[in-house]
Amino acid sequence: MGKALFITGTGTDIGKTYVTALIVKKLREAGLDGGYYKAALSGAIPDSAGKLLPGDALCVNRVAGLGEQTEHLVTYVYRDAVSPHLAAKINHLPIDLDRVKADFARAKARHDYLTMEGSGGIICPLRWDEQHVILDDLVKDLGLGVLIIADAGLGTINSAVLTIEHLRARDIPIRGLIFNKYVPGNLMQDDNAAMIEALTGVKIVAYVKEGDTDLDIDVDFLKNLYA
Ligand SMILES: Nc1ncnc2c1ncn2[C@@H]1O[C@H](COP(=O)(O)OP(=O)(O)OP(=O)(O)O)[C@@H](O)[C@H]1O
Ligand SMILES: [Mg+2]
Repeated sequence: MGKALFITGTGTDIGKTYVTALIVKKLREAGLDGGYYKAALSGAIPDSAGKLLPGDALCVNRVAGLGEQTEHLVTYVYRDAVSPHLAAKINHLPIDLDRVKADFARAKARHDYLTMEGSGGIICPLRWDEQHVILDDLVKDLGLGVLIIADAGLGTINSAVLTIEHLRARDIPIRGLIFNKYVPGNLMQDDNAAMIEALTGVKIVAYVKEGDTDLDIDVDFLKNLYA
């Protein structure tokens, strides 16, 4: 049974998949057995045969050289680019948490270091019918620590601090934060980093620039973020 780390973002499209792919690549290049899992993906694009392509899993597979069947990497794939709870409603395919937990456990058993990507930000409804489930409930249930991906630019102090405050209110351990689309030497972005650290005490553990193909982080440090 391997260790796992949950990746959340300060919002959707913030770069969770992009950075996750670099994390898994980094682990694998160091000879460690890194894997990937995502519970629910919406906004999947169909191929010419109409089969929905789980873009996030395909990206991590390609960048990190995982070579795994995408069926193992994502449990629920929806076409509609809406929150999973709504995509599930539209498609009459509710997210079964027991199935997600079983798929997660299998993925964790297959790899020593499993990186699980969330959907959207930390407050992402997975189910809102006779059951009410938000993504943070699942993270708590799985007992995972969280690494937050935030954009380095304008507005990030607010969204990063709110994400951290919410995780703390839910007693979810925070392993650190990664700044994405960072421009070295940018006065505002460096101040954003300093302000988030000062306001929360959470450390920025890596900086990813536009187009980066490697994650600049010590692999032993990275390894220790998994529990
Ligand atoms: N550092 C970067 N350099 C270049 N492109 C990036 C970078 N970060 C993100 N992107 C691009 O921005 C888009 C959104 O990023 P990504 O898919 O990783 O977001 P996400 O948080 O995983 O979104 P979702 O909530 O849909 O899972 C993608 O096209 C991705 O390739
Ligand atoms: Mg993604």
